[in-house]
Amino acid sequence: MINSDIALETVSLSKNYGSLAVTRDVSIRLERGARHALIGPNGAGKSTLIHQLTGVLRPDDGRVMLNGLDVTDHSVEQRVKLGLSRTFQINTLFKEFTPLESVTLAILERTGTAGKLFASARRESAAIDEAISIVRSIGLSDKDARRRVADLPYGRQRMVEIALALASKPKVLLLDEPAAGIPADESADIFNVIANLPEDVAVLFVEHDMELVFRFAKKITVLVSGALFFEGSPEAVAASDEVRKIYLGDKSHV
Ligand SMILES: Nc1ncnc2c1ncn2[C@@H]1O[C@H](COP(=O)(O)OP(=O)(O)OP(=O)(O)O)[C@@H](O)[C@H]1O
Ligand SMILES: [Mg+2]
Repeated sequence: MINSDIALETVSLSKNYGSLAVTRDVSIRLERGARHALIGPNGAGKSTLIHQLTGVLRPDDGRVMLNGLDVTDHSVEQRVKLGLSRTFQINTLFKEFTPLESVTLAILERTGTAGKLFASARRESAAIDEAISIVRSIGLSDKDARRRVADLPYGRQRMVEIALALASKPKVLLLDEPAAGIPADESADIFNVIANLPEDVAVLFVEHDMELVFRFAKKITVLVSGALFFEGSPEAVAASDEVRKIYLGDKSHV
């Protein structure tokens, strides 16, 4: 049965690395428009789970459903075409372009016009207009949008990664520590961008900073040793003695 309120779902997902069970029978649901945090101690299996959602890794068992469609056997590229996107670290090529150029190229890639010598100028100018609106939506100034990505501060570069993901018009966006390596005062900017993404885009994000998690997540899934440990609203997670004991109370894990 297709439940149209569920953007992405896993059904009893399991994965082992040799004798190590890194994903244990995990069933999670990402609602349409979700701002959903995936948290857990180091090594809990958060990134491994994200890789199985994007298609980088194959689960040993279980299914991944995207908008009700079983995509477990789909490639990364097929999933992107179906609206499942994640951020990738900007590679060196993109660093030589401006954010506006990079996002325009990504849009042309989506529309199948990239690199075509005789692609219509109208399509190209439509792509540029769309790139301008994406770049503005992530709060980049018009001036920064026209500087080389390599010359932007690191926090701004991470924002451009989100803009590149948006160029594929995702319905589901997966963000594994989107503010990693960014000074604390700038990481809230990234999360403000995430909070203000279009309402129909479901976002699943991994984040270690609990202050950011509680500020921006509407729902939280806690993963411990590869298994779902707790799930609920930020209030329910904060009120849970088990979560506090195993996870939040132990600062060495956060
Ligand atoms: N390619 C691999 N081969 C073997 N074991 C792996 C591999 N990748 C990850 N692991 C192990 O799987 C477990 C889960 O790792 P994972 O990176 O998913 O954790 P995480 O929750 O993302 O941690 P962190 O918060 O540090 O990013 C860890 O025990 C890790 O050592
Ligand atoms: Mg990780």
